[in-house]
Amino acid sequence: MTRCIQEIVELRSVVQNAKAAGQSVGLVPTMGALHEGHLSLVRRARGENDVVIVSVFVNPTQFGPREDFDRYPRDLARDLALCEQAGADAVFAPSAAEMYPPGFCTWVNVEGLTEGLCGRSRPGHFRGVCTVVAKLFNICQPDRAYFGEKDAQQLVVVKRMVQDLNFPIEIVPCSTVREPDGLAMSSRNMLLTREQRQQAPMLYKALKEAERLIKTGVKDTTALKQAIATVLGEASLGQVDYIEIVDAETLAPMETVWGECLIALAVRFGEVRLIDNIRVTA
Ligand code: PAJ
Repeated sequence: MTRCIQEIVELRSVVQNAKAAGQSVGLVPTMGALHEGHLSLVRRARGENDVVIVSVFVNPTQFGPREDFDRYPRDLARDLALCEQAGADAVFAPSAAEMYPPGFCTWVNVEGLTEGLCGRSRPGHFRGVCTVVAKLFNICQPDRAYFGEKDAQQLVVVKRMVQDLNFPIEIVPCSTVREPDGLAMSSRNMLLTREQRQQAPMLYKALKEAERLIKTGVKDTTALKQAIATVLGEASLGQVDYIEIVDAETLAPMETVWGECLIALAVRFGEVRLIDNIRVTA
């Protein structure tokens, strides 16, 4: 039976009991509206830990003033049932007041890595992500925490934070789960209109086209980005936010593809912003 916990003190006692019994703890941080992508993380955590905690918290501090915090899908009862099926022991679903009580004023800011890619069009986003993730790490004290490669920059930034702030936690990257037509699963996909949804698989198609070109010897990133833009142009309802080819570890932009690179993009369909990426070794 999955236990739903809303208060930090209660979660702390669950964690303390587990630790006292010598049990390992795995944490899967989420914002809910769970889908197969999230659940693949939960199942992986289930296989590798004695106690599995899934956090469900739509974190207000990682949304910009004109972003979709209010529209973000929420269905805790459904999330609980899915976590139960996937074998989670506890769902931690705190209120915003529990996480950010009056007077809250401490922030975790990873510099540099958060400036490009999504950081450019979402100023303050990663400060909110790092702050809430650091809090969740302190509250849950996991041995392992699971993050999806779908949010590639988030994964790099969280790994850096863990290293820089000496969290004794193993960050476990999990591969992107996709719909049969290639669209990366996302809680935001349900906000797309039927026409937008039909065009959304173009993101993955464009990434695969760049991968194909790299394999045939195209190394110039300007040419590759142009080819990606051409494929994305077929999605007439989409507006490109960015197309970037960067070093997979430092996130530094590349002129010529070399070693392991990350090809990442963001496209807006109306108010809905979709991201996707692949790693390619040249
Ligand atoms: P959320 O978007 O709910 O995603 C929670 C976790 O699920 C993240 O690690 C994300 O990368 C992973 N995920 C989402 N879609 C996936 C997919 N299609 N395949 C594999 N993994 C996928 O990311 C966040 O929430 C928040 O920023 C959070 C880390 C919880 C901090 O608030």
